[in-house]
Amino acid sequence: MSLYVCGDTHQDIDLHKLSSARFPAKDLTKDDFLLICGDCGVLWDGGGTDRYLKKWYDGKPWTTLFIDGNHENFDLLEQYPVSKWHGGNVHQITDSIIHLMRGELYTLGGYTFFTMGGASSHDREYRKEGRSWWAREMPSEAEFEKARKNLHAVGSRVDYIFTHCASSEIQAMLKPDREADALTRFFSEIEKMEFRAWFFGHYHVDRRIDEKHTALYEKVVRLF
Ligand SMILES: [Fe+2]
Repeated sequence: MSLYVCGDTHQDIDLHKLSSARFPAKDLTKDDFLLICGDCGVLWDGGGTDRYLKKWYDGKPWTTLFIDGNHENFDLLEQYPVSKWHGGNVHQITDSIIHLMRGELYTLGGYTFFTMGGASSHDREYRKEGRSWWAREMPSEAEFEKARKNLHAVGSRVDYIFTHCASSEIQAMLKPDREADALTRFFSEIEKMEFRAWFFGHYHVDRRIDEKHTALYEKVVRLF
């Protein structure tokens, strides 16, 4: 079992990093995992591109996991029933595409993960509600509470954290023009936790910020 992680794919716009030429995966099986750190866009308008992408991912020799970003169709996503997977709640989109939900903990390959998607869109004024923007891009109070409760239950200690945006401090380093919000402030809170490594997308850069924090976009990184 192996786990790879990468940044935003935005439907097929930034999918090239997973092409056979860029990400040779011939030795992988469906017991290996690729995790997309938000803005996957596999559910966008319920049309032909969605159908093509679901087939594309299903045809790959790995199981695709994604957390939600700020660009997902939350109306479509929430139509899927919630099921259990490796200790946490998920939306099972197809046989081998799985949405890891907000504030959940999973155990995979002997490691514990905490996942928390969502982010605020900085290009909100160019987007239309229900077509290209959803208020649900930001977690609800109930989701923040669930996250706190789940983390408390494991003594605020996990191996890996996967999110779309980062804490206010890290965001200020990467994008000084963007303001902190409820989610980046929540992540500042959980910076105090014990964790091995934290991976996030959203900022469209590949940068190892320090020993623990890595911003991902084009790179596909193997964790184990
Ligand atoms: Fe993005």
